[in-house]
Order: sequence, then structure tokens, then C-alpha cells
Amino acid sequence: MSEHSEGKREHWGSGIGFILAAAGSAIGLGNIWKFPYITGENGGGAFVLLYLVCICVIGIPVMMCELSLGRHTQRNPIGAFRAITPKTSLLAHLIGLCIVLTGFGLLCFQNYGLGALLLLLGVAIFRYSWTVVGFAGVLTGFVILSYYSVVAGWVIGYFFKALRGGLDFKNTTEAVAEFTRSTGDVSWCIGFHVFFMFACAMVVWGGVKSGIERWSKILMPLLFLLLYVIILRSMTLPGAMKGVSFLLSPDFSKISSRGVLLALGHAFFTLSLGMGAMTTYGSYVSKKENLFISSLTIVGLDTLAALLAGLAIFPAVFAFNQAPDGGPGLIFHVLPVVMNQIPLGGFWVALFFVLMFIAALTSGISLLEVVVAALMDEMKMSRHLAVLLSGTVIALLGCLCAVSLDSWDRLPALHQLLQQTFGVGQSSFFDFMDNISSNWLLPLGGLMTSLFVGWIWGTRGAVNEIRHGADNFADVHLMSLLSGLREDPHHNNPQYHVLTLAAIWGIFIRFVSPVAITIAFLHLIGWMKI
Ligand code: PFF
Repeated sequence: MSEHSEGKREHWGSGIGFILAAAGSAIGLGNIWKFPYITGENGGGAFVLLYLVCICVIGIPVMMCELSLGRHTQRNPIGAFRAITPKTSLLAHLIGLCIVLTGFGLLCFQNYGLGALLLLLGVAIFRYSWTVVGFAGVLTGFVILSYYSVVAGWVIGYFFKALRGGLDFKNTTEAVAEFTRSTGDVSWCIGFHVFFMFACAMVVWGGVKSGIERWSKILMPLLFLLLYVIILRSMTLPGAMKGVSFLLSPDFSKISSRGVLLALGHAFFTLSLGMGAMTTYGSYVSKKENLFISSLTIVGLDTLAALLAGLAIFPAVFAFNQAPDGGPGLIFHVLPVVMNQIPLGGFWVALFFVLMFIAALTSGISLLEVVVAALMDEMKMSRHLAVLLSGTVIALLGCLCAVSLDSWDRLPALHQLLQQTFGVGQSSFFDFMDNISSNWLLPLGGLMTSLFVGWIWGTRGAVNEIRHGADNFADVHLMSLLSGLREDPHHNNPQYHVLTLAAIWGIFIRFVSPVAITIAFLHLIGWMKI
């Protein structure tokens, strides 16, 4: 009866179904809303190049870590880490000790809230070792979905506005005023946020094959079709080529340390890495699938979608002499103004919001599925009860984000609590949730996953998992020491005395990704200046 009992776990119906579902998770508001505006703010082509480097250096290796961890253990992130964690892990103890000491330090400096929290975390690491990483991933699912669904709610609201002809602004001032008015309207925000959560819950309710996979197979091709149609319209506007060259020709003088960090953080967010979403989806994959090719395809589709979104937006923005650095409101402020200047403008705007809704929905369901899978596996809940429970809690949390979009005015008690604990400088609960997940939880989750797979599970164990269904992801000798493949039975075969993919991957997850993430992270918290 239960999907959660081992061996009976529900699996994807087909390889393509899995790839579309995983690409659906990756392709979301991050690609269509966030990527264009952070590219616009950070100089265009140069930022795109940085982003592509981060995707290759960190995104692909960590994607393979998460998928192989999921498939090997056939469990949700908590169960996956627990299944592989050894009885004693020196590395976990070391990390736990550092955290406990930092907690003590903070207590001494009278930062009681964060100090106590870190002490608790340190103790949890001593007690549960790496399983804490899986738990943190599930928690991150809660946090991200609670504010993600609020933005998705705006998208739905704007779609209806566009249908009613309510977005025919003459200039961006009018558009900004309308955006501020709408997002300040609590019942409007909450109504559409709950609607979005309901849509996610309906899909996840159907299960892996007949819910997530079925809808991904319908929605993902539709998403790409819509993207191409909008690009065609955008690129045929007079003056559109200025936008294309903004996106594609890098100006290296525009590269800044902030841009590097943003690109790195965004690589995690856009690929749904660092919180166990891909571990969860990987746990529904059969041994026949080639995880190496799947990872490349998922990352490739996600990158393609981001670039296509850029090609849909910037030509239109430049054709009508609008500024590309409009920030988070770029889509909501600039696009309606731009599109209004062409025939059938309202139709194009509505189509764009449909596109964004689809992208948000397939990502939202993956965020919810992480929580649902954890409740099913760990608490032995039925899928329907897990969906009901997690959907309701996240919807309520989202309501708090919706009532505190740009100020804490409506949540003074929560503000005080968070300020005492974290000393938060964020301007609202919405900002707090965004900041804590994108800047802290995801990069730290990615770092821990990469360390765990590279050093605890071991590259050898992970490569053995990836070998199922991927014979060409091969075995090496040349750098076997560095990459952790020294004891691999294939390493003496002279035919393999070259630097193969398996070895490169091992080096990346053991050294390159952890070092890059750590540097970026230290810079972020102000302990190191790049
Ligand atoms: N990748 C999604 C986006 O780009 O919008 C966001 C996301 C989905 C992040 C699922 C994390 C996740 F687990």
C-alpha cells in the first residue's frame, strides 16, 4: 500500500518523464524573473559568462551528487543522508565543534538568540551527524516555497489584470504605481498565493507518475513553445538587436566581486540544488537511467531557458529604450509598458504571465514534493495527508510573507524575535526568507552535499552508482589519488590511464566546488574580502 516502503517506492514512468520533471523543477521564476533582472543589473554579457562558468564548475558536479545520492538510497534527503552516514564521522564532529565554539563565542558576546541556535545545531550534528544536512534541506523547502508562492501569486494576479486590459500603462511610473498598489493589497496577494499553493498541492496529490510526471510532460513543452513565440515577437521589433548584443557580448570591465557571488548563488537557486530537491527526484529514478547524461540535459535545458528568457525580454526592453536594470520589477514594470506599444500588447503580456506561471508551478511542485516525500518516508504518512499538512503550513507561512512584503509593520513581534536571534537587517519577512534561503541555506546545503559525497560516501561509491546506466562515465587512473578513486578496481587498467570524466568529477566535488562555495560564503558573511 505504501509508496514509502523500501522496494515499492514509486518511480518515474520514463526517462524523458524524469528529465522533464527535473528540468521543470530547475526552470522557474529563477530563470524567467530573476535571471534577466540580475543580468540587467550586472552588466549583461559579462555576467552571463560568469553564470555559465558557475553552472559548469559547480552546477553540473553538484547535480550529479544529488541525483546519485537519491537514486542510490531511494530515500528523501533526510533518509538519504542517514542511510550513508557512518557511525562516526570525524569531519561531522569537526564541523559540529566549530559550530558549538562559535555558538559559545556569540553567547559570550551576549548574542543569545543566534548563540543558542548554533549551540543547538552543533549538538544536533554531534547526535545526528550528516543527517542534519538532509533535515536542513527539507526546512529550506518550507522557507523557499513560502515566498516563492507569493511571487507566483503576483504572476497569476497580473495574468488576470492583463486579460482585463488592466495593464495598459503609458509609462513605467504608472506601472510602478500599479505594482506597488497591488502588492500592498494584502487580500490580493494572499488570495493568489493560496491559489498557487492549491495548484501545487493538486499536482503533488496525484503522486510521482500521475501527478508530477504527467503535468511536467504537458507543461514543459508548452513552456518552451511559449518562450519561442514570445522571442519571435520580441526579436522582430525594430531596434531589438541592441538587446541581443547586451545579452551576448561581454564587457569584462563590468565584472565585479558582487557579480561573481550573485552568479554562484543563482547557480544553486536556478538548478534547484542545495536543498535535496534533486535528491528527492533522484530517488524515483530507475537504475537504467544514465545520470551523467540526465544531469547534462537538465542543466542544459535550464541554461537554455534562462538565455531564451533573456532573449525574450531584452530585445523588447531595448527596442523601446527602457533601462535594463529595473531590478525585481523588470518583468512587472517594464514588460507591460513595452508590450503596450505593439499591436495586441495585452495578449503578449498575458502570454508572458502564463509562461511564468507554468515555470513557477513546475518548480513549486518540486519544493512541495521534498517536504511531502520526507513526511511520507520519515513519519510514515500517506501522500494525501502529507500534502494536506505541508501545503497548509507552507500556505500559512506564505501569508506571513505576503503581509510583510516591504515592511515589518504588520509583524512587529516576529520582527523583534528575528532581530534578537539573527540581528536581521532585512526590510521585511519576505526579504528575510529570501535572504536566508538563497544566501545561506542553499550554498551551505550545496557545500555540505558536495563534501559528503566527495569525502564521506566517497567518490568511489558515488561513481559506482553513476555507472549504472552510464558505462561511458568512466574509470581512471591518472589522477586517482586526488580524486579518491585510488582503490577503484579499474584504476590499473592501462587503457584508462587518462584523465576521465569520473576523475574530473571527483576532483570537482572534493576540492573545486567546496573551495569555491566556501570563499563565496566567507565573502558573503563579511569574513573575507574578494
Ligand atoms: N529552480 C527554481 C527556479 O529557478 O525558479 C527554484 C527552486 C526550485 C529552488 C526548487 C530550489 C528548489 F528545490
